[in-house]
Amino acid sequence: MKKISLPEHSELLSSEFIFGVATSSFQIEGAADQREPSIWDTFCQQPGRIKDASDGLVACEHVQRWRDDVDLIASLGVDAYRFSIAWGRVIRANGSVNENGLAFYVRLVDALAALGISAHVTLYHWDLPQYLEDKGGWLNRETAHKFAEYAEVVAQALGDTVASYATLNEPFCSAYLSYEAGIHAPGFKDRKKGRQAAHHLLLAHGLAMPILEKHAPNAEHGIVLNFSPCHPATDSAADRNAAAMAHAYHNLWYLQPILTGNYPDLLGRLAAHERPEIALGDMQIISQPIDFLGVNYYTRTVFRNKNDWFSDVPPTEPPLTTMGWEIYPEGLTEVLTDLQHTLGKLPPIYITENGAAFPDEVVNNRVHDEARIDYYNGHLLAVHRCIEQGVAIRGYFAWSLLDNFEWAEGYTQRFGIVHVNFDSQQRILKDSGRALRQFWQARKLHTQVAEAL
Ligand code: FCB
Repeated sequence: MKKISLPEHSELLSSEFIFGVATSSFQIEGAADQREPSIWDTFCQQPGRIKDASDGLVACEHVQRWRDDVDLIASLGVDAYRFSIAWGRVIRANGSVNENGLAFYVRLVDALAALGISAHVTLYHWDLPQYLEDKGGWLNRETAHKFAEYAEVVAQALGDTVASYATLNEPFCSAYLSYEAGIHAPGFKDRKKGRQAAHHLLLAHGLAMPILEKHAPNAEHGIVLNFSPCHPATDSAADRNAAAMAHAYHNLWYLQPILTGNYPDLLGRLAAHERPEIALGDMQIISQPIDFLGVNYYTRTVFRNKNDWFSDVPPTEPPLTTMGWEIYPEGLTEVLTDLQHTLGKLPPIYITENGAAFPDEVVNNRVHDEARIDYYNGHLLAVHRCIEQGVAIRGYFAWSLLDNFEWAEGYTQRFGIVHVNFDSQQRILKDSGRALRQFWQARKLHTQVAEAL
């Protein structure tokens, strides 16, 4: 079995650097009867939306099996676990608090703490309660205020027992893919809707920040964004310009308002009827300081010019993952150093997601996923290089702990370092999980020895 190895002096090996695994509520929890339906439940019922026509009703049965899953996490030797809270498990359609639902997360955080694992909570990983979508979802400004109320309920219950609160996961997906590209729930295809949803999501983030600080003053508060370097398909001026526009539209659109209080200039290039409505004072709410920036990184993207706008060119050359994504670790170093160059010193960063889907096979209770070990090693080296180049990265979370419901791809994509048999719910640690475990445990031993000296 291959091993994970990093340069001996790497900061990733220091005791301050945090390693963890990540999941999200809708993708693993199941127990749909104990929460309100979300936009993903609705979406899954619409023919043709999910590749294998599956849904999240059972998923990994995590609500039922959470104690075993926590033991599994502890056995890996990680410092931290990132998960998300299902809004609809906490707030009912009538606005009352579902105490049982909330208690599930309190128990989870307590159990993690008892094992010395810090909890990194994401408040919104795309599973908007359907009762809010029925009132316009993220197109309705009121949803941002509802989010702040929900954040208050969670922060009052969990307070400082949680190490970090991220308001949102990847608003690019919950705005662009969901309201503009028609790929994710609720499945609209409309540029104005996409821009408006993005604005209200960012507003929700900004409204929640002071509330989280109030109720959890010793926790860190921030947001998780996904970035992908945007490369031109050819060296032509038109394609280079297209790639630059894609970078502004997909990457900068979410980070720049938070750090500077302004959207990219590209906003001015949109037709008047495509621009979001922005109320006076919104940009101040959005741009308050964050303690950390969560970064999700998977691949790079290539664009060409199309009618003076941009259009993506899917990769065809191997090495590709089963998602069809190019394996391109250097893109992580590139995009973060580039963002820091453009926007100035970035807040402390956690890589909150990174991982890959491969065609895993179970043979004699083992999964020999060597390609995933290479993927992790390559990307950990990219994190190492980022730090060397002056980007403050504090931690790294592997996506994902478990194979799970991969959104529009259903259960066809396996991102876990643990294989899940979706009939029996049996979990098998893949070789990548074994390699990471070996790396994490050796590192712990190393820092313990160093501290004892
Ligand atoms: C990210 C999502 C996560 C998972 C990975 C593969 O965009 O945050 O839930 O689906 O992609």
